[in-house]
Amino acid sequence: MKLKIAVQKSGRLNEDSLGLLKDCGISIDNGRDQLKAEAKNFPMEIYYLRNGDIPQYLKDGVVDCAIIGENVLVEKGNGISIAEKLGFSKCRVSLAIPKSEKYTTINDLNGKRIATSYPETTKNYLASKGISADLHIINGSVEIAPNIGLADAICDIVSSGSTLFKNNLKEVEVMMKSEAVLAVSPTISSERNTILEKLRFRIQSVLKGRD
Ligand code: PRP
Ligand code: MG
Repeated sequence: MKLKIAVQKSGRLNEDSLGLLKDCGISIDNGRDQLKAEAKNFPMEIYYLRNGDIPQYLKDGVVDCAIIGENVLVEKGNGISIAEKLGFSKCRVSLAIPKSEKYTTINDLNGKRIATSYPETTKNYLASKGISADLHIINGSVEIAPNIGLADAICDIVSSGSTLFKNNLKEVEVMMKSEAVLAVSPTISSERNTILEKLRFRIQSVLKGRD
C-alpha cells in the first residue's frame, strides 16, 4: 500500500515541495522528467502534475494528497480539505490597475473589464462587494492585458510585485492570501490515511524546526 502524492511538475512550488519531502527524510528516485516516481524509504508514490489539474485529481481520488497553492484550491478545489499549511510560496491574489489610473474604492471597478486566470475567485469576490464586471479569462501573462487594451484591470497572483511593477500596474485590492498547503482527497482510504498521518507528523516536525 502506497500513498499517492501530487506535486507541481514545474513552476514555483516544485523545488520547495521536493525540498520539504527531502527534509522529511524521504528520498525520491530522481524523476524530474518522469511523471511518476517512487520514494525509496517511505510508502509513497510521487506524481508530477500541472498545477491546475491537481484539484480534479484530488476530487477523483486519482491521488490521495497534494502539495499545492491554496489559491489554486480556492479557485478549483471545492470541498477539498487542507491538512497542513506549509509556510512557503506565499503570495496574494490581488486586483491591479494601471498606475496612472486613480482608485478610491472597489466601486471604481464596476462595469470594467478584468483579465484573470482566477475567474471563480474574482467572480465571488466581486459579487461579495456588489460589483459587476466583465471577466476575460487568460491562462498566463495576465499583466500584459491592460497595456494591449484588452482589460481595464487584472486579477492575478502577486509575490514579489515585480511583474506588476514592470507592467506599470498597482495593486489595489488583496482578495486572498495564499501559501503552499498539503491538501487531501475527499475519497482517501483509511489505510492510506494512516500513511498520510505519518507524513503529516514528519512535516510538522520539519516546519517546527524551520520556525
Ligand atoms: C506568476 C503570476 C504573476 C507573477 C507574480 O506568473 O501569474 O504574473 O508570477 O510574481 P511576482 O509578483 O513575484 O512578479 P508566472 O511567472 O508564474 O507565469 P504565468 O503567469 O505565465 O503563469
Ligand atoms: Mg504571470
